[in-house]
Amino acid sequence: MQAGQFAVFGHPISHSLSPRIHQAFARQFGLELDYRTIDAEPARFAETVRAFFAEDGARGANVTLPFKNAAFMLADECSEAAKRSGSANVLTRLADGRLAAHNTDGAGAVRDLTDRHQLDLRGHDALMLGAGGAAQGVAWALIDAGVRTLTIVNRSPEKADALADAIGEPARAHTRYWEDLDTIGSFDLIINATSAGVLGAPLDLPFGFVGNRATCYDLSYGKGAAQFLAWAKVANAKFIVDGLGMLVETAADAFELWHGKRPETDPVYHELRAQLG
Ligand code: ATR
Repeated sequence: MQAGQFAVFGHPISHSLSPRIHQAFARQFGLELDYRTIDAEPARFAETVRAFFAEDGARGANVTLPFKNAAFMLADECSEAAKRSGSANVLTRLADGRLAAHNTDGAGAVRDLTDRHQLDLRGHDALMLGAGGAAQGVAWALIDAGVRTLTIVNRSPEKADALADAIGEPARAHTRYWEDLDTIGSFDLIINATSAGVLGAPLDLPFGFVGNRATCYDLSYGKGAAQFLAWAKVANAKFIVDGLGMLVETAADAFELWHGKRPETDPVYHELRAQLG
């Protein structure tokens, strides 16, 4: 059955595994998808998205860096998770042609950490590096999942402050300066939500804030995660996890929104893991 046209928008985007994941989910239900990658020029993101959704059969899109905030802004309506984070990784065309924004990043990351990697987040002191579109989606979900504290550190401090202010629980979610990372204390969960790895930029991190039993989690995968994962190894982190599982989980939520069917994520995750290493 032909299920319509889908795409993932990003810049860069050629690394994306989203097309393969959605095609693998579709095969589980005998669906045929047209799912493509679209490298949108940043200044023309909104018009590129509108042109895609103006096509016959266009039904949904995933959105990755650096467009998650812009995707939220251009939608006509949004889910609660998109609204509270101000960012969206899923756009869906409604029957009347309007666009709805969703954010499945937070739910996907928490499901990956707790179900797949068996991490009980309750009581954890978490450090979030970055405060862009991906961080905004995941921060709220970590709070919901019961982390004891969430410290947000961003290269541009005002974005971290805005995220902590939006969460509005100053005793749990607060910010520190990037320059103070070497004197900031230690953490049980360290999340790399920066786009440095994907953009090929250096991420210069000290080692002292990695606690004895810390999990280091990168929201990226493949080459984009390599730098942070290598740093985590040198820092002696107990558990080191990339964002492949999160990607598969967030894709499953998008798939269910678009097709009304819940795909099995484990077989797709294991197949991609075997190839990625
Ligand atoms: P995403 O959707 O991946 O979150 P984004 O919204 O463009 O993409 O956000 C990128 C994040 O990575 C931001 O927090 C950015 O920091 P700034 O707000 O200061 O720009 C962070 N980032 C990107 N490159 C970085 C680098 N080389 N070092 C540290 N942080 C970086």
